[in-house]
Amino acid sequence: MKTIIEPFKIKSVEPIRFTTKEERVEILEQAGYNPFMIRAEDVIIDLLTDSGTSAMSAKQWAGIMDGDESYAGARSFFRFESAVRKITGMKYIIPTHQGRAAEKILFSITGGEGKFFPSNTHFDTTRANIEFSKAEAYDLLNEVGKHPEIRADFKGNMDTEALERFIIEKGRENIPLCMITVTNNSGGGQPVSMQNIRETKAVCKKYGIPLFLDACRFAENAYFIKKREKGYADKPVLEIAREMFSYADGCTMSAKKDALVNIGGFLAMNDDNLAMLCRNLLIVTEGFPTYGGLAGRDLEAIAQGLEEIMDENYLQYRIRSVEYLGEKLLAAGVPIIEPPGGHAIYLDAKRFLPNVPQEQFPGQSIVCELYVEGGIRTVEIGSLMFGKYDAQGKLIPPPMELVRLAIPRRVYTQSHIDYVSEIVIDVYKNRECLKGYRLTYEAPMLRHFTARFEKL
Ligand code: F0G
Repeated sequence: MKTIIEPFKIKSVEPIRFTTKEERVEILEQAGYNPFMIRAEDVIIDLLTDSGTSAMSAKQWAGIMDGDESYAGARSFFRFESAVRKITGMKYIIPTHQGRAAEKILFSITGGEGKFFPSNTHFDTTRANIEFSKAEAYDLLNEVGKHPEIRADFKGNMDTEALERFIIEKGRENIPLCMITVTNNSGGGQPVSMQNIRETKAVCKKYGIPLFLDACRFAENAYFIKKREKGYADKPVLEIAREMFSYADGCTMSAKKDALVNIGGFLAMNDDNLAMLCRNLLIVTEGFPTYGGLAGRDLEAIAQGLEEIMDENYLQYRIRSVEYLGEKLLAAGVPIIEPPGGHAIYLDAKRFLPNVPQEQFPGQSIVCELYVEGGIRTVEIGSLMFGKYDAQGKLIPPPMELVRLAIPRRVYTQSHIDYVSEIVIDVYKNRECLKGYRLTYEAPMLRHFTARFEKL
């Protein structure tokens, strides 16, 4: 087979500012060893997130110019609404400024004390919005998804037996809705199979519980279904996506991922009463229902992005380019979550740095070293992001310690990725020299954004 090439030409470029290793040592220390606190200008390759970092197409930029900025009833809203409806089939489509705004509205209405929300794995903002409402969030990931070294096709799947036990234990009346995150971001960008969505829906239906998709990366998930699940190889991605959404009663979406825009999101659902309540809250917190926290031009860019994301040449290149990085790292023996996910490579910090205990944040240690060695910015998804404390103040670590290398959409070329693999492999070869870290400041919620550390 021939090399799978980027299915686009580059029309507009942004220069990268290079720093020296000595400068980066200084910058990182100033940032309290937390790359969230570094200026983006001081980063050479930014793999912090694939969110809002996509390169927009010429047609999306044309849409930005063409946006209708009317307060109510803008043409851009109707284009956006019809693009979202074409994929989701949902009755009510409510624009929000990003994914977490959709979550905030949904869980402010459905959440509250004594309520429980199961998911395959909640993303951190989803969990935070549920917990902020005083409800509880539970992750019921299939066993295979918890083992980074096992190769399986659909490691994002929900454990549907655990879901049924959970519903019986907590009481169906205390579970306002069940969620599935596609792909499972916090668990390695691993996809969820159509069969699993269908089975989850069947359990939910049996107990009268609505099913919502956290749909940020729906197109990447649909492409994995096409490639890996029996019966889907010849179906267009749009049809697969429509089937995924057909089992859902609603969804939250961060358009900053699979709608290829820099800002935006939405909430969609079929229930009349819930939609009325959400829209009323939207007016208080986001804006009028035909713009909801966005400009008309943003709605245009989302509508266009949703069409482009389902181009199968794009999806083939996208999934292959992430896999390409994964293959290079695996060939050098670097432990990663296998198989590579849709939007990112996740280093398995427990196997990468077995000599640094979880209380000393092995993932953060790798994050810091990648920055110093190569100016690459990544993010820890482990004890820093998801660690809790017991009554004695001792760390309760999450099951996995990961470092995410998220690949922005349409931004970096193959040589950027080759450079990334060289740096990761160098850091891995020098892993004996890496040290742990101690937290010196942490916020009460979502502490990873603002935490500060000291080197041990
Ligand atoms: N759900 C998932 C699965 C996500 O990955 C994100 C964001 C959100 C919800 C929230 O969306 O950022 O638009 O408010 N994930 C980004 C990331 C931040 O880096 O993975 P948002």
